[in-house]
Amino acid sequence: MRIQYALVTGSSSGLGYEITQYLLEEGFIVFGASRSETDIDHPKFIDLDVDVTSEESVQQMYDEIGKETYGLHLIVSNAGIFEMSSVLETESDVFLNHLKTNTLGPFHILKHGHDFTIENVTHIVHISSIAGKKGFENVSAYCASKFGLNGLIESCREEWKSLGVRFSTLMPGAIDTPIWENLSDDFERSKMLDPEDFIQVFDMVVKSPPNMQFSDITFLHKSGKLE
Ligand SMILES: NC(=O)c1ccc[n+]([C@@H]2O[C@H](COP(=O)([O-])OP(=O)(O)OC[C@H]3O[C@@H](n4cnc5c(N)ncnc54)[C@H](OP(=O)(O)O)[C@@H]3O)[C@@H](O)[C@H]2O)c1
Repeated sequence: MRIQYALVTGSSSGLGYEITQYLLEEGFIVFGASRSETDIDHPKFIDLDVDVTSEESVQQMYDEIGKETYGLHLIVSNAGIFEMSSVLETESDVFLNHLKTNTLGPFHILKHGHDFTIENVTHIVHISSIAGKKGFENVSAYCASKFGLNGLIESCREEWKSLGVRFSTLMPGAIDTPIWENLSDDFERSKMLDPEDFIQVFDMVVKSPPNMQFSDITFLHKSGKLE
């Protein structure tokens, strides 16, 4: 069987954790990148301590990856943060932290991941959000960061066209993960998708024909709003 390498950022929790488990089951060797350790214990899992906001940390991560492989078949840029507050109540450092984690972080992953792309093979999947296409109340920092992320992806896709790499962007609505914990408001989990629903879409993207990319897959719970 052909060995396939994947990088997943934000592997310690939520969707990144589920994606990592899924890819391991599919036979990938997975590099997981987050600031905290995961409890995943698998011979094909390599846990890396990475802060995506730091260019140096991301460079060190790729140095480690380079000791194992020259190329990545799949890059899943998923790490992200989400906090809620009105524009008037949002502190500048909270706003900036969203931009650093959700926009600058994926930029570092792309910029230094370029050396690990395999011509006509690598699939780069970003976990963006519906909030990258539509503004929502009390999430200005998050929306700004995800709108910015989508712009970054679009530009990079154009610049790297000659490489033949694929760029797919998932823009889900609310999914029941730990990201919703520790917020001041309580949200109805029954009106959110489950991580398993997400994995069904992810599976379709990963197994799609090699000549296909998904520039925008928007999906949400049937009770969710998208007007
Ligand atoms: N859940 C939803 O409703 C939903 C909907 C749409 C889009 N999304 C997007 O899906 C992605 C994953 O969200 P989730 O729901 O799975 O959230 P989560 O459970 O809170 O997980 C977030 C992950 O990102 C990692 N992370 C955060 N800051 C990081 C940093 N500076 N460096 C490295 N890793 C960092 C965290 O690991 P450490 O803290 O260990 O570093 C964690 O593994 C995010 O981009 C989010 O915006 C989620």
